[in-house]
Amino acid sequence: MTSSGLGVRTNDLKEEVIVDPTTGEKSVKVGDINFPARKVWMKTFGCQMNYHDSERILSHLKDLNFTHTEDLNNADLVLFNTCAIRDLSNNKFYSQLGEIKHAKKKKNSLVVGVGGCVAQTEGKELVKKYEHLDFAFGTDVIDTINDMVYRVYAGDNKFTINSWDRSENFSIETKINHGTPQAFVNIIKGCNKYCSYCIVPYTRGKERSRLKSEVVDDVRKLVEYQGVQEVTLLGQNVNSYGKENNESLAELITDLDQINGLELIRYTTSHPYDVSDELIQVHGESKKLSKHLHLPVQSGSNTVLERMLREYTMEHYLGLLDKLRKAQPEIVLSTDIIVGFVNETQEEFEATLDLLDKAQFDSIYSYAYSMRNKTRASKMVDHLSDEVRGERLRHLQKYQLGIQEKIRQGLVGQEFRVLVDGTSNMGGVKKWKGRTNCNRVVHFLPTNEEQNLLWNWVDVRVISATALSCQGELLHTLGRKLQ
Ligand code: 5AD
Ligand code: SF4
Repeated sequence: MTSSGLGVRTNDLKEEVIVDPTTGEKSVKVGDINFPARKVWMKTFGCQMNYHDSERILSHLKDLNFTHTEDLNNADLVLFNTCAIRDLSNNKFYSQLGEIKHAKKKKNSLVVGVGGCVAQTEGKELVKKYEHLDFAFGTDVIDTINDMVYRVYAGDNKFTINSWDRSENFSIETKINHGTPQAFVNIIKGCNKYCSYCIVPYTRGKERSRLKSEVVDDVRKLVEYQGVQEVTLLGQNVNSYGKENNESLAELITDLDQINGLELIRYTTSHPYDVSDELIQVHGESKKLSKHLHLPVQSGSNTVLERMLREYTMEHYLGLLDKLRKAQPEIVLSTDIIVGFVNETQEEFEATLDLLDKAQFDSIYSYAYSMRNKTRASKMVDHLSDEVRGERLRHLQKYQLGIQEKIRQGLVGQEFRVLVDGTSNMGGVKKWKGRTNCNRVVHFLPTNEEQNLLWNWVDVRVISATALSCQGELLHTLGRKLQ
C-alpha cells in the first residue's frame, strides 16, 4: 500500500492474521484494530474505467477482511463509485445516497464512503451535506482505500481525500480476482483534451501513461498465471498513450500481439485527433486486435465540432474511417454522439444525421447535451431548450436504427467465433451469448439444455438479426482454450 498524506498509513502498521481455533473464523489485526470478517456493498456508476476501479477497490479491501455482498442488508461498509459525466447518473447517485440514511439508522455501525468522479470535485461538500456519509475519496487515491477505511474504524471520520498522484511514473499492476479469461488493463489515465462539454479532465486529471514494458509484462502475467485470453486496454483517451515516454498505442499493440495464449486485444476509448497512420496500419496487420473500433465523433457539424473544441473536422473524421476500412476491410465502427450541444441549430443537427448516413456505424451511443460545471461550455449562453434536445435525440436514435437494421441484415448467414460470457433470457428461453471479435453480441441455443458453455470458444452462424441483436446457431464448441 502507498501513502497519500492521510495521516494514517496502514503499510507502516503490522498486519497479523488471526484464526480462531474453535470457530475457524479469520480476523485481520492491523495496528491496534481488529478487523473481523465484514461485508462490503458497492454501487458503481459510469464508464468501464469506473467499473475497473471498483474491482480494484474490492480487491484491496480483501486485505482488511472484507468480502463483497450484493445484499445491502448484510453490508458493514457501503461504497459508491460515482460518475459526473451527465446529470442523469449524477441524479441517480444522489437519490441512492439519500436512501442509505435509512440503512444507517437501522445499523449504526454501517460505514458509508463515496468515491469516483463526483467525489473528486465535490467530496468536501458531500461529506458536509450528508450527515451519514463518513468519507469521500477521489479518482486518484483508490489504491489507498484501506488507509481510509482503517481511519474510519480508528474513530476518525468525516474526511475527504481527493489529492492527485504526483509520482514520476504512472505505474500500477492489474488486480483482478474474478477468475474469468477477460481482463481490463489500465494503460493511461486522465485527459488533456479539454473538449468544451467534458468534465473528465477535472475529475480524472492530466494524462499519464504507464510504460509499455510494464504493460506488456502485466499482460503476460495475466495470461500465464490467471488464464486471461482477452484484454481491453483502458483509458479516457488511449490514442494519446505513451506520448510522454516516446511510445505509442500502435507499438504497444504490436508487442502484445506476440504474447502466446493471448487471443484478443480491444481498446477503449479513442479520440479521432490522435488516430495515427501507424495505428491504422496496426488495425490491418495485427493478428489479435479486435476488428472493431469505437471512435466518438460527437457531431457531424463542423461549426459544432469547433464549439466543442474537438480539433478535427467532419471531413477528417470520415477520412479516418475510409483509411481504417481500407487497412482492415472487416472493421466494424461505432461512435458516441451528443445532440443539442449549446445553441445547436436545426441545420447543424441535420449535419449529424448526414454523417450517420455517410459513416454507416454498426451502433452508436447517443446523449442529449448536459451542462457540466467548470467546463468551457458552461460559460456559453445557451438558448436551446431541453425539449428540443429530447426531440432531436429521439429522432437521431430512430434514424440510426434504420441504418443499423440494414447493416445487420447483411450478417445473416455469416459465421463468427465468440468467447461465451454468459446467458440471456430471451422471451423465457435461456440462450448463451458471446461477443464477436468485432464486438457484436450473438445469442444462441446450446445443443442440449445441460450443456455449460461458459468461457468456451464457439463458432456460431447468424440466423437472424435486428437493429439491436443477433441470433445465431451453434456450429462447433472449441473448448476453453484455442489451439
Ligand atoms: N453531455 C452529454 N454527453 C456527454 N458526454 C460527455 N460529456 C457529455 C455532456 N456534458 C458523452 C460523450 C462521450 C461519452 C462518454 O459521454 O459522447 O463520448
Ligand atoms: Fe463518468 Fe467520465 Fe468519470 Fe468515467 S471518467 S466515471 S465517464 S465522469
